[in-house]
Amino acid sequence: MSDRPSIAVLVSGSGSNLQAIIDASERGEIPCRVGVVISNKADAYGLTRARKHGIPAEVVDHRGFGRREDFDARLVEVIRTSGASLVCLAGFMRVVTPVFLRAFPHRILNIHPALLPSFPGTHGPRQALEYGVRFSGCTVHFLDEGVDTGPIIVQAVVPVYEDDTEDSLAARILAEEHRIYPMAIRLFLEGKLGVRGRRVLAKGAGRIPAFSCRNPDA
Ligand code: GRF
Repeated sequence: MSDRPSIAVLVSGSGSNLQAIIDASERGEIPCRVGVVISNKADAYGLTRARKHGIPAEVVDHRGFGRREDFDARLVEVIRTSGASLVCLAGFMRVVTPVFLRAFPHRILNIHPALLPSFPGTHGPRQALEYGVRFSGCTVHFLDEGVDTGPIIVQAVVPVYEDDTEDSLAARILAEEHRIYPMAIRLFLEGKLGVRGRRVLAKGAGRIPAFSCRNPDA
């Protein structure tokens, strides 16, 4: 177990993506272990999930730092101490600075509940519903200096139904998040991802059969 590379997961809330990553790791579906979980909120349920699995869980409260850069420097310190070779943001509700980004170049992933570049920011499902799109989904991408703008690694699509609420759509999207985040981590750790400008190439990835989907299916 312990000779597998370690990853760090950063959360601010429930941590259901963290749970999917821990479960995938314990089932041997991704070649790593979660070495540390960090939250900026002491009451984040993600910390409880980590502790239940014997994973070190650390609180770094952003309110204790005068500048964003100082908060980020502390995060970098905790992650480096853990020996993590990959950093996964999973519902981590802080915008990070170059201090954080430059510490782990091309080694920070994020998940977003929309089909980027549509609906970046904090309310992906609500915006998709209000805009009236027929499909939405989720995206795992490399973090860059923008908000939800980094090179895209994996996306999954879900339909938006006319009787959806923000909660029902978010739940449908979340179920897919739990599939694609472990997938992206596996591709990264197996060395299969190559970044060419904005495009991420996944070596050896199969093609899904000719894809066609209508919604509504009238
Ligand atoms: C997810 O929808 C994720 O895409 C977004 O924040 C939410 C976190 O959910 N960034 P959880 O804490 O993993 O349950």
